Amino acid sequence: MSSSTRSIDASRRPVTVPQIASSKVRAGSEPLVMVTAYDAPSSRVADEAGVDMILVGDSLAMVVLGYDDTLQVTVADMAHHVAAVARANPSALVIGDMPWMSYHVSPAETVRNAAELIRAGAGCVKLEGGAKRVGMVEAIVDAEIPVMGHIGLTPQSLHAMGGFKVQGRESQAALQLVADAKALQHAGCFAIVIEGVPGEVAAMITDALDIPTIGIGAGPRCDGQVLVMHDLLGIEDRMAPKFVRRYADVKAVSVEAVSAYADDVRTGAFPSSEESYHLNAEQAEAMALYGNLPIGD
Ligand code: KIV
Repeated sequence: MSSSTRSIDASRRPVTVPQIASSKVRAGSEPLVMVTAYDAPSSRVADEAGVDMILVGDSLAMVVLGYDDTLQVTVADMAHHVAAVARANPSALVIGDMPWMSYHVSPAETVRNAAELIRAGAGCVKLEGGAKRVGMVEAIVDAEIPVMGHIGLTPQSLHAMGGFKVQGRESQAALQLVADAKALQHAGCFAIVIEGVPGEVAAMITDALDIPTIGIGAGPRCDGQVLVMHDLLGIEDRMAPKFVRRYADVKAVSVEAVSAYADDVRTGAFPSSEESYHLNAEQAEAMALYGNLPIGD
């Protein structure tokens, strides 16, 4: 299938975790395509475009709910949006992002929270952090829930990192990222997101793993890429990180469309007679008898 949309590919089968887990570019696989979505229409857009994975990311907090960071969303918020994405019944694998503090307290609470996202419709979950998350990853995997890891610039560590900063620039930090990735793979992760890391370091991590890496701001040598839907469509136009490529300017088109609507309402050009419901002649006549309507409207 070409890079164009795949909406008419009725035979498209659900993308599974084992398929993703075995997709290494070095073994001949096509790079994996992942994008975020947060509701049913954006889920349909992503799926009709033929992406492999839809991430219901906690970026929800920033791009949809208007918060300044991702720390504000809860498991209930995430489940609400996972369910909306899943209701569109995409063939793409739906990933439920575990929000901050949903996998930090105890394995039991972690598994319960992961299960809530699965019950909402996700096929797997994602969580942030390296070797120190191994216990929680093992607990979730033990409950038969597939887990995607996420290392590098992990937005939930905003305060610990001192801001949204590229990670792994020093050799010690780069080696730690490789060790983190290997620990997550060993714990049972089926894929790992690498965010905000020099391309050379992401390549090292990718080469060190048997499971695929999905990059965002991590250069071209990952086994796949992910972008936030609102960034790539230009719905979110206030910030443009270096790694974002905008494929559309939906914000500008939308402002133009809503302005045209506002003008039409104010000038009386909307709605027209064709855009209105009408009584038939008999109904109009009956009403006119009661003095409510002029005949022949
Ligand atoms: O929440 C999110 O959108 C993410 C991606 C940036 C990987 O975690």
